[in-house]
Amino acid sequence: MSKTRTQVGIVGAGPAGLVLSHLLHLQGIDSLVLENRSRQYCEERIRAGVLEWGTVELLIQMGVGDRLQREGLVHHGIEIRFAGRGHRIDFKDLTGRAITVYGQHEVIKDLIRARLDSGGQIVFDVDQVSVHDLDTVAPRICYSKEGKSHEIVCDFIAGCDGFHGVCRPSIPPGALTVYERNYPFGWLGILAEAAPSSEELIYAHHDRGFALHSMRSPLITRLYLQCSPEEDVANWPDERIWKELQTRLAGDPGWRLNEGQILQKGITGMRSFVVEPMQFGRMFLAGDAAHIVPPTGAKGLNLAVADVRVLAHSLKDFYTTGRADLLDQYSATCLRRVWRVQRFSWWMTSMLHRHEGNPFDERRQLAELDYVTTSRAASQSLAENYVGLPMD
Ligand code: APR
Ligand code: PHB
Repeated sequence: MSKTRTQVGIVGAGPAGLVLSHLLHLQGIDSLVLENRSRQYCEERIRAGVLEWGTVELLIQMGVGDRLQREGLVHHGIEIRFAGRGHRIDFKDLTGRAITVYGQHEVIKDLIRARLDSGGQIVFDVDQVSVHDLDTVAPRICYSKEGKSHEIVCDFIAGCDGFHGVCRPSIPPGALTVYERNYPFGWLGILAEAAPSSEELIYAHHDRGFALHSMRSPLITRLYLQCSPEEDVANWPDERIWKELQTRLAGDPGWRLNEGQILQKGITGMRSFVVEPMQFGRMFLAGDAAHIVPPTGAKGLNLAVADVRVLAHSLKDFYTTGRADLLDQYSATCLRRVWRVQRFSWWMTSMLHRHEGNPFDERRQLAELDYVTTSRAASQSLAENYVGLPMD
């Protein structure tokens, strides 16, 4: 078995693990990233694509913002459609801020390149990752690659391995409290070779269910339809998808959704999930390993980045002063933002999706949409959460 040492052993090369590794590098702290998928898989995996202004600023400060600034689409608002009419939420006017539409896999490509260019170590295609001695000062990560066993001895471990990773389940039962809510719907997402039909994102409430118009580039549209979480994608031939999108997204007269070849299709369930605390001994959980938000507010990546920003700062403080105060506060500091973002994502989800059930709730939902699109106070609340609450 080969043995190595690093200051921070990072499990997972998603946005959390890669941003953490690069931030640590910029602060002179050594890390090693282990990823069980291939580099190509990580770089091509289609996920969400909305970056809060604070995420964009951080990526630029870290030196990984060049392509993002060239190719990212800066949006100063979104549209909310209901009862067949569109209403714009003007972020610039309401908050002075904007968001940037840039696919998560593009962020991943930029981060991997930056890590490798600066001598960073990312080991892809690893198997059988396990974490040990978490409540000692020398936690260990074991893994195998191409049939050979390896061990890394660390000062700290960062569990950045997403919702289905190994880090969170390695914490002894009873040390964590889980808060969870499942939603009775999922999203059918497609990527289509079609020019976006509007410059901005459209969130549509419709009697047949929620629909979302987003994009990846001037030539590629990203679209979603509310469906059952158990829905089989085989029940959705392309024709049915376009028909349903045309119906649910129908808006002002003259507006029509551009169609094109469907390049990718998939269904995801929706849940809200948080574990507390986001730490056990010398292992810290960050991003989807610690919490999941439903995608309606486009917050998953942004929240992952916010966590590791706190973690990198706390680790820097530890290595500079020898004091663990900030590390001890890591979980509480992150959870404050996590819960505010959970609240927003739950609220957007509840306001926009069709729920079977009480006609009272349907009327209340329409009243909420009416209020949010006509009251400056209500639309400002949506806008300040959507562009991203300040980092503090
Ligand atoms: N060993 C090593 N790597 C693992 C393991 C494991 N046992 N299990 C999972 N991984 C890897 C996954 O392959 C993935 O690349 O950990 C990475 C976790 O990345 P993400 O799932 O992207 O999670 P995170 O970095 O927290 O980013 C959150 O990504 O999941 C989306 O929508 C979510 O936008 C949000 C963001
Ligand atoms: C996306 O472009 O994939 C996207 C946009 C907004 C969301 C979710 C996903 O709320």
